[in-house]
Amino acid sequence: MSIIKTEGLTYVYGENTPFRKVALDNVDLEINEGEILGVIGHTGSGKSTLIQHFNGLMKPTSGRVLVDGEDFAADKEKLRAVRFKVGLVFQYPEYQLFEETVYKDIAYGPKNMKLDEQEIDRRVRETAELVGLDPEILDKSPFELSGGQKRRAAIAGVMAMEPRVLILDEPASGLDPQGRDRIFEIIKRYHEEKGSTVLIVSHSMEDIARLADRILVMNEGKVFCCAEPPAVFSRSTELEQIGLSVPQVTRVFNALNELGFGLPQDVYTVKYAEKVLRERLEQES
Ligand SMILES: Nc1ncnc2c1ncn2[C@@H]1O[C@H](COP(=O)(O)OP(=O)(O)OP(=O)(O)O)[C@@H](O)[C@H]1O
Ligand SMILES: [Mg+2]
Repeated sequence: MSIIKTEGLTYVYGENTPFRKVALDNVDLEINEGEILGVIGHTGSGKSTLIQHFNGLMKPTSGRVLVDGEDFAADKEKLRAVRFKVGLVFQYPEYQLFEETVYKDIAYGPKNMKLDEQEIDRRVRETAELVGLDPEILDKSPFELSGGQKRRAAIAGVMAMEPRVLILDEPASGLDPQGRDRIFEIIKRYHEEKGSTVLIVSHSMEDIARLADRILVMNEGKVFCCAEPPAVFSRSTELEQIGLSVPQVTRVFNALNELGFGLPQDVYTVKYAEKVLRERLEQES
């Protein structure tokens, strides 16, 4: 069964004003339990607006959002439960660190869930370990940490709630390549250990291609497509038309195909490219 489903989800900013903007336009989607869904789209395509509907932070102008088959919009109790079930990490989450210590910041969510002290402590220590923060850092002020450490502490705060769906909006933005890789490794490990559903919003096709089971491509508030990576990347010309760059290796293969090499059109990782080329060379030798 799908863990999140939208039916005709539409969201309009500034209704009845000169700034009226349809940010989501009749979005029908099903997100599968346990998958990693990459969400990609040009700036302004509606990605952040969409994901804020999934834990009730935003309410549809029309249409519905179902979590676990339930529409929670009109029910305060259900809305509260959804906040814990669907954890949202905003872009630049480190700006929201505010407690005296890193420990307290990570414990903030679990505390709100009214878990007992022992369980809170277990979760704080376990997630700190998962995101690679040493135990002695827990007693420091978040302001003493490096940029990368702050980002990881903020992500740990949401992971410690052990949400069934973890959503991250541009989790690696502003970090150097090493910092980026580290964040994606952490997300992958969290997904493997908890088996939860993960949504990652990213501008980078390369990152999404490496991680996602399926990719949702948004364009001007509409679903352009939602499918497995090969099916998405085989539409590379159309993707480029809506302002998305396909992975470099896909571009190389497209160029080779224009020269008549007749290679598969769905190559999107270097690993798969290597396999395809090896097989081809073996055939020809
Ligand atoms: N608070 C707001 N008031 C009015 N319009 C808004 C507001 N927030 C977003 N929009 C508009 O809604 C549309 C979708 O915005 P959204 O932030 O969801 O896009 P996005 O895909 O997350 O973009 P980005 O990649 O830049 O983060 C855009 O046209 C944006 O200008
Ligand atoms: Mg956004």
